[in-house]
Amino acid sequence: VLDIRKVYAESDHFTFDPGFTSTASCESKITYIDGDAGILLHRGYPIDQLAEHSSFLEVCHLLLNGELPTAEEFAKFEHNITYHTMLHAQFDAFFQGFRRDAHPMAVMTGAVGALSAFYADSINVDDAREREISAHRLIAKMPTIAARAYKYTVGQPFVSPRNDLSYSENFLRMCFAVPAEDWKPNPVLTRAMDRIFILHADHEQNASTSTVRLAGSSGAHPFACIAAGIACLWGPSHGGANQEALEMLETIGSVDNIKDYVQGVKDRKYKLMGFGHRVYKNFDPRAKVMQKTAHEVLAELGHNNDPLLQVAQELEKVALSDPYFIERKLYPNIDFYSGITLRAMGFPTNMFTVLFALARTVGWISQWKEMFEDPSRKIGRPRQLYTGATQRDYVPVEKR
Ligand code: ACO
Repeated sequence: VLDIRKVYAESDHFTFDPGFTSTASCESKITYIDGDAGILLHRGYPIDQLAEHSSFLEVCHLLLNGELPTAEEFAKFEHNITYHTMLHAQFDAFFQGFRRDAHPMAVMTGAVGALSAFYADSINVDDAREREISAHRLIAKMPTIAARAYKYTVGQPFVSPRNDLSYSENFLRMCFAVPAEDWKPNPVLTRAMDRIFILHADHEQNASTSTVRLAGSSGAHPFACIAAGIACLWGPSHGGANQEALEMLETIGSVDNIKDYVQGVKDRKYKLMGFGHRVYKNFDPRAKVMQKTAHEVLAELGHNNDPLLQVAQELEKVALSDPYFIERKLYPNIDFYSGITLRAMGFPTNMFTVLFALARTVGWISQWKEMFEDPSRKIGRPRQLYTGATQRDYVPVEKR
C-alpha cells in the first residue's frame, strides 16, 4: 500500500510554502521592491521620481521595453497605442448582455476575455512581434473598455476614443463627457489620473500578476490571461481593497467614531482596509505619493474640508501610534488614499478596482512578455502537500 507521508519524506525537492511567502516563482528584471526599506523601483527608477516627472505612457514603454524612450521612440510608441484604441463595432453589442446594474469589474473581466475572440491572429505567443502587438492592443483598449463598463452601468451612451488627446485625458473624456461634446478634463485631475495609473502600473509577483504568468505559462491567449488577472485583482485582499477602504471611511463617518472602530479592529471583528501589505513592512512608497495627490485634487476641487479626508488623516495618526499596528508593522498602503481621490474626481466606488486593472494591465503584459523571452520557461505547476486519505480499496455502494 502506498504510504504518502513516506513519499514526501523521501522527496529531494519539496518545499511547503502556503501563500508563497518565501518562494520565488521566476526571475524578473522589471520591478524591485525592498519592503523593509519601503523602496519600489521600476527598471531601476524610483516610483516617486516616475510619478513626479514621467507620464503613464512613458512608464508603459519603460516596463515593456526596459528603457525610458527617446523622444523619437516615444512618438512611435504613442502612435502605436493610439492606433489601437478603438473597439470593433460588434463589441458594443457584447456589453448589452450584462445586467445594467452589473459590477463594472464583472463587465471588464467578461469583456477582456471576450476580446480574445476578436484577435485570434495574435495567439502565436512564441512570435515576438505578435506578443508586441497584443501588448499594444491591450494597453490601448483597456481605457475604452473601462470607460464603457462605467457608461454602461450608469446608463449613458458610449463616448468614442479621441486619439489627439493624451492617454489620461482621453480616458477621463470617455468617462465623463457625452458623445460629440467639446469637453476637456481639468489639467490637475488629468495629471492626478496619470499619476494614479503610474502608481498602479506594476508591483512584481503579486497575486494577479502571478495569475497572469501562471495562465500564460500554458500558452493561453494573452487577453484571456489578462482576464484571469482581472478576476484575481477583484478580491478585497488585493485590488478590491480600494473600494473597501473608502467604504470603511464612510462607515466610520466622523473622527469621533475612530477610537471605537480601531478597537473593533483590535478585537478582530474586521480589518483596517488600506492598511498592511505582504511585502511592505514599512511605509508603502506609493501611499506617500497618493496622499500628496489626494491633497492636490481636493484642493483643486475645493473639497479641502472633505470629512472623509479628515477621518483618513486622523485614523492614520491613531493607527500609527497604536502598539497593535506598530508590532505588526501595519502601515497605510496605496489604497488608503486612492479612494478619497477617485471619489472626488467623480468615480463611483465600484469603478476603483477597474481603474487599478486598467493601470496594472501594462505590468501584467510586461511580465507575460518577459516570461516568453526566457528560453528556460516552464509551465507553472505548484506542488501540494496531500493531507487526504491514504490508499484504500473501493467499497461497493451496498457495503458502505
Ligand atoms: N487590519 C488589521 N490587522 C491586520 C491587517 C489589517 N489591515 N493586516 C494584517 N493584520 C494583522 C493580521 O491579523 C495578523 O495579526 P496576527 O499575527 O495577530 O494574527 C498580522 O497583521 C499579519 O497579517 P497577515 O494576514 O499574516 O499578513 P499578510 O501579509 O498575509 O496580509 C494583506 C497582507 C492581505 C494585504 C493584509 O494586510 C490585509 O488584508 N490588509 C487589508 C486589505 C488591503 O488593504 N489590501 C490591499 C493590499 S495592497 C494592494 O493590493 C494594492
